[in-house]
Amino acid sequence: MNGQQIFKMLPVEEAAKLLGRGPVSSLPYYDPGRWELERQAIFMRSWLHVGHICEIPESGSFIRREIEFAHASLLIIRGKDGEIRAFHNACTHRGTQLADEVSGKRSRFSCRYHMWTFGLDGALVSAPDFERFHVAKEDCSLKQVQAQVLAGMIFINFDPAPKQSIREFLGPIADALELTPVARAVDFTEWTYEIEANWKTSFDNYQENYHLRVIHPRTGRPVLGPENPFGYPTHYGFCGPHRSQTLWKNPSPPPTPPIQLMSFLRGAALAEKDDVAFPKSDFKLFPCLHIVGLPPNQFTHTHMPLGPTRTRGQIRMYWTSKADSASRQFVREMAAMSVRDVLAEDRVAIEACQRGVGSGAIDRFHFQDHEILLRHLYEEVEARVEAYVSERARTGGSQ
Ligand code: FES
Ligand SMILES: [Fe+2]
Repeated sequence: MNGQQIFKMLPVEEAAKLLGRGPVSSLPYYDPGRWELERQAIFMRSWLHVGHICEIPESGSFIRREIEFAHASLLIIRGKDGEIRAFHNACTHRGTQLADEVSGKRSRFSCRYHMWTFGLDGALVSAPDFERFHVAKEDCSLKQVQAQVLAGMIFINFDPAPKQSIREFLGPIADALELTPVARAVDFTEWTYEIEANWKTSFDNYQENYHLRVIHPRTGRPVLGPENPFGYPTHYGFCGPHRSQTLWKNPSPPPTPPIQLMSFLRGAALAEKDDVAFPKSDFKLFPCLHIVGLPPNQFTHTHMPLGPTRTRGQIRMYWTSKADSASRQFVREMAAMSVRDVLAEDRVAIEACQRGVGSGAIDRFHFQDHEILLRHLYEEVEARVEAYVSERARTGGSQ
């Protein structure tokens, strides 16, 4: 099943009729009070992509993830039973962090302070002079956070009892993701960056092509043509809170520079050899994960909020084989650098946009029809914040 079948793909006029055309409030894009509501209503109860199973291949392998908006440090550990679990990186005696490394492999986690020791399943295994504590060992396990794997990707959720599994939340998209190279990845190229921008300002940049010819006059050329001077997608589609678009295919693209062509052809040949042929795809998954499949490359781009106007971008290109030859290494570096070049152009504009919004002088945004995916994200966020606020009012603030 490809993206075209999952998302109800509509021409722009129909999509615009569906979602409306008026201006929207700019407040959610900079206001700290509003961010706090989104943090509670969305980020503290949504599935968030934080890693891949290829990072923790064996029993005892672990990764540490700092989730700043939750003031949390998490240890994501593969247990003896092969299960992947996430725990707060905090000893249950008096809270000391158990691991400083970003990743590693251990058979147990001993606290540096008084030597409480925990197993890979989070259970307290031993503690010196434990008889003087008047508590059962079973009540001293590491504090667990929900973790689930889908298509090789690890998702965590701070809600102790999520209403949906990650598979239920993604619906038919889940099956499509299982067929992509990310599901079979054994390696990846990663880079991260921090940006002075709200997470939606950051994500929105990758949800419209209106800006292509202005800020990517060189790198955007292949997707601009006289028949479609803005390089607008041909269709937009929605599946619950998730979105997609169909990119326009330029019938006569400008010649690709020789070095890029060489990398692309070599990459395509290697991809075929690796059996990772897959259709072009574009999954904009709620809240902040973007998965782009532009054969022969696939990459994920996460916009993790750090505060009202600061976001960490994490990009990963996933590979189904190790970079075991100079040829593969070259293709991967070249692919990563090509994407990074384009994104560098975006980042300058995104930060300037955020600086302008911050004063509150521009109280409304005007989305044009081809900015329909931005409108969809705005509406989805609004709906969740509103539901959270009324739920809180109903329960007297106990949410
Ligand atoms: S805080 Fe960890 S053993 Fe005391
Ligand atoms: Fe761009």
